Amino acid sequence: MPSPSSPRWDSLWVDLRLATMAPGGGRYGAVADAALAIAEGRIAWLGPRADLPGRPERLAATVHEGGGRWMTPGLIDCHTHLVFGGDRAREFELRLEGASYEEIARAGGGIVSTVAATRAASEDALLEGARRRLAVLLREGVTTVEVKSGYGLDTESELKMLRVARRLGDDLPVSIATSFLGAHAVPPEFAGRQAAYVDLLCEEMLPAVARSGLADAVDAFCEGIAFTPAETERLFAAARGLGLRVKLHADQLSDLGGAALAARFGALSADHLEYASDESVRAMAAAGTVAVLLPGANYFLREARKPPVAAFRAHGVPMAIATNCNPGSSPALSLLLMLSMAATLFRLTPEEALAGVTREAARALGLGDRGVIALGKRADLALWDIADPAELAYWMGGNPCRAVVVNGVALAPAG
Ligand code: NIG
Repeated sequence: MPSPSSPRWDSLWVDLRLATMAPGGGRYGAVADAALAIAEGRIAWLGPRADLPGRPERLAATVHEGGGRWMTPGLIDCHTHLVFGGDRAREFELRLEGASYEEIARAGGGIVSTVAATRAASEDALLEGARRRLAVLLREGVTTVEVKSGYGLDTESELKMLRVARRLGDDLPVSIATSFLGAHAVPPEFAGRQAAYVDLLCEEMLPAVARSGLADAVDAFCEGIAFTPAETERLFAAARGLGLRVKLHADQLSDLGGAALAARFGALSADHLEYASDESVRAMAAAGTVAVLLPGANYFLREARKPPVAAFRAHGVPMAIATNCNPGSSPALSLLLMLSMAATLFRLTPEEALAGVTREAARALGLGDRGVIALGKRADLALWDIADPAELAYWMGGNPCRAVVVNGVALAPAG
């Protein structure tokens, strides 16, 4: 407890415009001419500056001038495959010459080629590559990132990827949420023996990952080129038995009812969703499963079909947006560019797009302590040189981020 003479807050921001993104709070949940106080890494006060209970320098140990800039919650990238070895630039060339993503995968390229490079890489080499990519994301006000495994596909290599993901959070000012994606593809040594790989996944890999404490959730790729709905259900039942939440790459290239399956297991999110049916959308709404939209993959794979955004809106399914940063379908290093793509390709409003990388992205990760600017929430914030929050979805390139606050600590973004 501070003594009566000591300041009550660690820091205080004044001369701000807040886009709180709190639901039901008007456009962007905006507060004009605002102030925001932080104590012990949490938001301790916010409101119009005129309502501050005293002079700023008396109230806080440090006072930051916002210069009239907009402050939003720190951005959250809720779907990435940031840890991987090698790259797939040659595959990009093949696709431009006419090969499809599925044809390349069926011919032994695609995810499986990244598996070979990831298995061959040392933990430190993987860390170095992922760290470089993550540093680029963080410059744009990102303060929480989800990172999947799924390019190891054997117990030790999957654990290696998850350890790298955790180390990223130790090295850089960001929170990392991890997902175990052992059901991303069938590894080459199990070619033609998919059922045996699913046995290994459920009986050995998943329990080992659960014991390690390295995964916050379990993910899978339910698709013609990956795992069937029945295999996905078996994995999800095993995950539930181990107390792990699930999420799913669903209905990306075809409608296998993946989003409805995810909803049946109370999934945090179903991701991609270009081919999701109306029935799946209703099931997601009933289960509170977040739709994670990945416009980078939709653009990069030149997919003509778009996710059913109007149906998500009509049924009240929350929509999040992520980079899906990975070497095969979305080599994207800008979450702000995803806002632009979500607006232009998927017709989200700029406000829905910003909610998709703040409030709804937090929900997609089951993180109730962030994603909006509100009392008691984690003080993860971003400060922007913009005249209106719609600009965050408007510019294609350029970076208006002027500062980030991570767990209450103010930092200038590098670069
Ligand atoms: O989310 N769809 C499956 N997984 C990734 C692609 C991974 C890859 O091609 O390496 C995705 O798009």
